[in-house]
Amino acid sequence: MAAVARGRCLPRAWLCRWGPDSPLSPERQPGDPRNPRLALCSRRAGQGCGRHYRAALCAELKQPLAIEEVASRPVRPHETLWQIPERVPLREAATLPVSYGTAVLALEHRAHTRPGETVLVTAAAGATGLAVIDVATNVLHAQVIAAAGSDEKCKLAMQKGAQSVVNYSRGSLKEAVRTLVGSAGVNVAIDTVGGDVFLEALRSLAWEGRIVVVGFAGGTIASVPANLLLLKNVSAMGLYWSRYKEQNFPVFSRTLSSALQYCQQGRIQPHIGAVFKLEEVNDAFLHVIQRKSTGKVLISLK
Ligand SMILES: NC(=O)c1ccc[n+]([C@@H]2O[C@H](COP(=O)([O-])OP(=O)(O)OC[C@H]3O[C@@H](n4cnc5c(N)ncnc54)[C@H](OP(=O)(O)O)[C@@H]3O)[C@@H](O)[C@H]2O)c1
Repeated sequence: MAAVARGRCLPRAWLCRWGPDSPLSPERQPGDPRNPRLALCSRRAGQGCGRHYRAALCAELKQPLAIEEVASRPVRPHETLWQIPERVPLREAATLPVSYGTAVLALEHRAHTRPGETVLVTAAAGATGLAVIDVATNVLHAQVIAAAGSDEKCKLAMQKGAQSVVNYSRGSLKEAVRTLVGSAGVNVAIDTVGGDVFLEALRSLAWEGRIVVVGFAGGTIASVPANLLLLKNVSAMGLYWSRYKEQNFPVFSRTLSSALQYCQQGRIQPHIGAVFKLEEVNDAFLHVIQRKSTGKVLISLK
């Protein structure tokens, strides 16, 4: 099985598994060029550093690639492989690299979220959104306001731990947040939508609030009115998870190690919204593009 189509991030990270009893392809042993993901990773793990992995997350494939191109990409040594603990199911592990890595980085490293603070997350039923709810609620003990574009998605966000929800297709996000928390506002906002949703989230911040720009799923990049930053002493900051791999590898690595640890400890519960076969990859993309997906969408190679 391998990960994971997510918009333009395909396949930024792959789940790799090999060994004599590999369930992926029993007739193809590690090193077999017909099975490139296994060959690439087992070669490095076996010869490069003498380590063996039951299963590992591989984060070296950083550019959006067509699936058949994966074979030609080199994989660096073991520092770009993360052992998947026995207790973590492979499908759950496949949800971790981009979504949970981003959630951990946004909440912990960028926004320095503290227990009891209020976190507003947009596109809350998406892959990143649900990961933010999970980490904020179950690891950091923050209070989450989940904002999403339909009642069904809001319901899912509540089931996953949000304390309150806003359906922003029905009206102003800022007004709805004000109704929930009063004029004090929220301490942290994590935005993956951009445009007006971002601006309303920015206007919902409390004194010394922090907003993290993660993505522009809505297609519009907003400009930041600097006076809003001044008036309430708020901070607006960007986040580009995979850039940390080049710029600050220890931080990047920690996001994956933390996500795997939280999963192993049962503190987080990744949500897999749909699983498609490899030959259904176009349907998988449509499912995401048409805004029907929730949580992570997996491509299964089994
Ligand atoms: N900077 C980074 O390192 C980083 C890391 C991860 C993701 N991202 C970015 O963050 C965004 C979300 O990623 P994701 O993996 O969470 O995606 P996802 O699971 O596909 O969720 C995207 C969500 O965005 C919302 N959305 C609002 N307007 C949309 C539109 N016009 N078209 C499609 N969706 C729209 C939808 O939720 P509603 O229907 O509820 O509005 C949709 O479910 C993407 O832009 C991605 O590239 C960036």
